[in-house]
Order: sequence, then structure tokens, then C-alpha cells
Amino acid sequence: MSETRRLLSPDRLRPWMDAAIEVATLGGARALQWWHKRATLTVEQKGKNDWVSEADRDVERTVVAELRRRFPGAAFLGEEGAKEQAGPGQLLWVIDPIDGTTNFLRGMPLFAVSVAAVVDGEPVVGVIRLPLQAETFAAARGVPTTVNGAPVSPSKVSHLDEAVVALGSNRKSEPGPVSASYARLIEQGVEVRRLGSACAATCFVACGRVDGYLEQHLSPWDVAAGLVIVEEAGVRANDYASGTWLSSGGPWVCAPPQLFEGVRQAAGF
Ligand code: IPD
Ligand code: CA
Repeated sequence: MSETRRLLSPDRLRPWMDAAIEVATLGGARALQWWHKRATLTVEQKGKNDWVSEADRDVERTVVAELRRRFPGAAFLGEEGAKEQAGPGQLLWVIDPIDGTTNFLRGMPLFAVSVAAVVDGEPVVGVIRLPLQAETFAAARGVPTTVNGAPVSPSKVSHLDEAVVALGSNRKSEPGPVSASYARLIEQGVEVRRLGSACAATCFVACGRVDGYLEQHLSPWDVAAGLVIVEEAGVRANDYASGTWLSSGGPWVCAPPQLFEGVRQAAGF
């Protein structure tokens, strides 16, 4: 067990998780207000098919302000601008205000608000709110994953030819490895899904709606909360939160233990 985990007992983490649930729910309500008037949003292009709107920025501001009020000494890292370095032992909140921005802007009903607590580079609390589904996935180290307070369990499927696996890509993905992993999955009879929200796909692995999820490159705000959510649900994941993950991200794969090796081999990393 790492030193961080030894010091941060479940009793110490539970109030952080409860605060994150409250704030992600508030952020989700804010995102929903924008969702209903999304046709009026000003949208900017950050890169090839990479978008940001007033809604993403407003939800990030709301989530940061609400957390800062509750945790005045914390640092913040967010997809839409928050970028503070955390010192040793300092609490860092990692936020994706709207994960699934393309879905959101086009009216496809799956997007998420993601809030994670990270200490010394280690994610220790994860909360993901799916506003349209009114679902909140939450976990902390030593505190098992729940959805709206009820325990979750991952899938029991044991063969890839019965599995549904989510796969994603973005402008940082190399086309070759993405198509190779897609090909390896379908060769083995996997039903592949592209959900458009990394956070939702990860939560769906935790509760068994899909049997695995892989992406060649994801940013820290896409994974930090989901990593705690899947691991505390008994799902296996690659060693994502290591090295320079907080500044550069990296590949992400997760699946229930009986399928992990197969899905990881298909991912190719
Ligand atoms: C994206 C979504 C998408 C995933 C991309 C992410 P954003 O996040 O999670 O499903 O495939 O890799 O960048 O831009 O909608 O917050
Ligand atoms: Ca994202």
C-alpha cells in the first residue's frame, strides 16, 4: 500500500467523496440548464473536432468555485483551464466539466461531469455524474463503488465472443493502433461501442453495462475519477496513474478480471 493510501483512510476520504457528490450534482444541474438551450451556445474549435462552449467553461467555473469554498487549500486541474500544481500531500481536484462535449453539442444524450481527488499523484476519490440519466457513480479508496448509493458489480461475461467493449479515439490518437485494436476486437467476436464519453464508458464497465473500455490516449480529467470508480468496483485497469499522467495523460484500458488480459491484448498496449 502506498504512503498516500495509508494516510488517507476511508473515514478521511468519505467527507471528500460526499462533497464531490454534492458538487458534481450541482455541476450536472448547471450542464442540464445549458443542454436545454444548447442551440444558442457560442462554440469554439480547439483542434480537429475538439470543441469547447460557454457551457463547458461555465460548468468548470461552477465546480471549481464550489469545491474551493469547501476546500480552500486545494489545487485544481480542469479540462477548460484550471491548471495549478499541487505540492506534496496537497489535495488536487481534477475536473472534466462536460465529458462528451460533442455528444452534448449535437444533442446526443450521454455526457458526464467528472470530479476526482488526487493526492501525491494518486487518485483517491472519484465521482461521475450523468445528468440526463440522473445517475451519480462514486467511490473512494477503501469505499466500494455505488450508483445513486446502491452497490454496483461488473459483468460476469467470460468470453470475448459474448462481450460488448467500448472503444474511443480523439485527435491525439494514432489511426493505425486504433484501427488495429478495433480489428482485433471484431475478429474475436466482440460487439464494439463508441459512446462518446470516456467517463460514461468507464462507469458502464464498473456496473456491467459494457465488459471493457479502451482508448489509446486519454487526458487526466477523462480518467482520474473513473479509475477509482472501476477499481473499487473490482474491475482491473492498466497502470494509468503513473509517471507523467497528470501532465500528459496516456493509454487507458479496463475490464473485469476474467476479461482484462483479452481486452488488453486487443488494445495492444
Ligand atoms: C472526449 C470524450 C470521448 C473520448 C475522447 C475525449 P471531451 O472528451 O470522452 O469519448 O473518446 O478521447 O477526449 O472532449 O468530450 O471532454
Ligand atoms: Ca473529456
